[in-house]
Amino acid sequence: MPLFLPYEQAVLAGIVRFTAPRRLLEFGTAQGQTTFALAANSPADAEVHTVDIMQWTDYTRKCLRGDETIGAFYRSSPHAGKVRQIFRRVPDEVPDEIAALRGRYDYIHVDGDHSYGGVRTDTVTALDLAAPDAIFTWHDFYTFPDYVAEPPERRGVYPYLNELARSGGITLRHIVGTYLVVGCRTWPQDMPGVLVQPGEPEAPFGRRNLRLADTGWKQGAS
Ligand SMILES: C[S@@+](CC[C@H](N)C(=O)[O-])C[C@H]1O[C@@H](n2cnc3c(N)ncnc32)[C@H](O)[C@@H]1O
Repeated sequence: MPLFLPYEQAVLAGIVRFTAPRRLLEFGTAQGQTTFALAANSPADAEVHTVDIMQWTDYTRKCLRGDETIGAFYRSSPHAGKVRQIFRRVPDEVPDEIAALRGRYDYIHVDGDHSYGGVRTDTVTALDLAAPDAIFTWHDFYTFPDYVAEPPERRGVYPYLNELARSGGITLRHIVGTYLVVGCRTWPQDMPGVLVQPGEPEAPFGRRNLRLADTGWKQGAS
């Protein structure tokens, strides 16, 4: 999995299987690996909406890694029929198909624009669109000190989610060993969980998860 780590796929699959949501929304389709995980692990009658931007940026191209089709990964799977792919004309648009389900989404995954402003906009939109007890997940929550030190325009997920957690309206937990954060507005604030600070070792996984594509591994090679 070039973008989404295999262990993260397993964790996300577990969350979706356990919570069994019926209306799922994703910000940031790219190749559609997460879309696949959401569709493959939700109940058979679930509907997955996934949204990306109409005007590709360099970041979109980077995420697609030479592929020209948004959503190619899930489209070639047997779960494609559960997915509706939607495009935003402008980065903060809430397309009509999505607005029509306001208050009824029970799972929302945020993995679009990772700048502080971008993740904030998508999270505020997600909170507005979701049912009160919906489950939220965010990707790309990097706690490496060198990332945390970068300006929030570039690395907004860490500072924004810390701010959101402090605001008190939602309980958030970083899932150690992944770049995922999970949250719910009806979970108690004192739900078990340990706050890991930047630079603290994330045993047993070490400091940084290496993406498969960065290891030089090639399919079929020994
Ligand atoms: C990190 S990738 C998503 C990876 C995807 N979840 C997967 O598993 O393959 C981020 C994607 O978000 C898209 N994006 C950027 N800004 C966005 C926005 N405002 N709304 C929706 N998608 C956005 C990019 O075009 C890119 O395709």
